[in-house]
Amino acid sequence: MRAPYWVIGYETDGELFGKRSNDDFSVDGVIFYTISEDVDLDVLKRLSGAAKARSLEIMEPFETIPFIAAELNSSISLLTLLKRIQHSICSILSAEAASILVHAGDHLEFLVTEGGASGRIESIPVPMESIAGTIFLEEKTMIFNDLMEDKRHFKGVDKAAKFVTKNILGSPIWTGEKKFGVIEVLNKDGGFTKEDAQLLEKFARLIGRKLYSTVNSERMKKLIKEIVLAITSAIDKRDRYTHEHSRNVARISVMLGRKLGLPEKELEDLEISAMLHDVGKIGIPDSILLKPGRLTPEEFDYIKKHTVFGAEILSKLKHATESMIAGALEHHEKLDGSGYPYGKKNGEISLFGRIVAVADIYDALTAKRVYKKEWTKEKVLEMFKEDAEKGKLDEKIVGILEELIKEGAL
Ligand SMILES: [Fe+2]
Repeated sequence: MRAPYWVIGYETDGELFGKRSNDDFSVDGVIFYTISEDVDLDVLKRLSGAAKARSLEIMEPFETIPFIAAELNSSISLLTLLKRIQHSICSILSAEAASILVHAGDHLEFLVTEGGASGRIESIPVPMESIAGTIFLEEKTMIFNDLMEDKRHFKGVDKAAKFVTKNILGSPIWTGEKKFGVIEVLNKDGGFTKEDAQLLEKFARLIGRKLYSTVNSERMKKLIKEIVLAITSAIDKRDRYTHEHSRNVARISVMLGRKLGLPEKELEDLEISAMLHDVGKIGIPDSILLKPGRLTPEEFDYIKKHTVFGAEILSKLKHATESMIAGALEHHEKLDGSGYPYGKKNGEISLFGRIVAVADIYDALTAKRVYKKEWTKEKVLEMFKEDAEKGKLDEKIVGILEELIKEGAL
């Protein structure tokens, strides 16, 4: 019987077959070593009989590489992709860490995952004279088992990452004919071997295109976000808000959405919806929007239309989802029907509408403005609780906001 590619070793009665890894699962008296923390235990249960009989065959590392690469070709975020790449290559090569650098003009820079050195190394430009730079420029897989003697070792990263690099195996990453970056695997007891180098080279070749397209789509997403932010800060400024208002509403909405358990894709949509919640104000004339003093009922009715204008603008975007549009349309609705523009009630108001409503009021009241003093968090929360009790605001969302305040996140 053959084990799936993600099982790289097993141990039964103290005897080891294949290799050990950092992810081990004990099933029916057999310890299985895998290249993922996230495995199907039922599959391992089915394999345990063959393992005990010592007849379970483990794939050679070379054979597993195409399977790993094929799995990376599903649609996943850059963060997940990097984590999987690092995790699997470290398990297969018995290395401590792995990093990926991309070429950026006259230097290389790190693509980072969460935890570890994240937040400390991504802004460090790695010079082309470094080891990573040498691998990139010479276009070949290289082993550096004696770093003490090597002047090319760039110590700036170790210092920032609070990490001690002992040895490095690195390979250039290609996308078709174009050189794109470098993958480095660090710290293997006893040093890296020629076989390790062949494995990494094969791996680097197979992940190149996927990595390149994911990095680019992530950059495009960032660019879109920056454009949206530029538009919203222009709108906020016109309306006497600080330019941070829309950004804050987006940040708070995402925090609320995350605690509500929304999946990552919906959180991205929510962020855009919240950033653009007041985009419809573009259609309100200055004479009304900027009028000092009290508005007439007719003028206020006109202001209310910013929700409808906003929904109209967003619905012209081909990729805007219904929830995104609803966030702009319904952020002034109240659950008891006393809001605007339509006086929608309870279940008629979308989740995005209810979330953005709470985030919008929270930021508007707690912020200091030229024309008003800021409210304390406690005072806003008290008002929110009263409004939730009266059936105006969503009780669950207000509860989550309270949690965020208590945790010090807001
Ligand atoms: Fe609004």
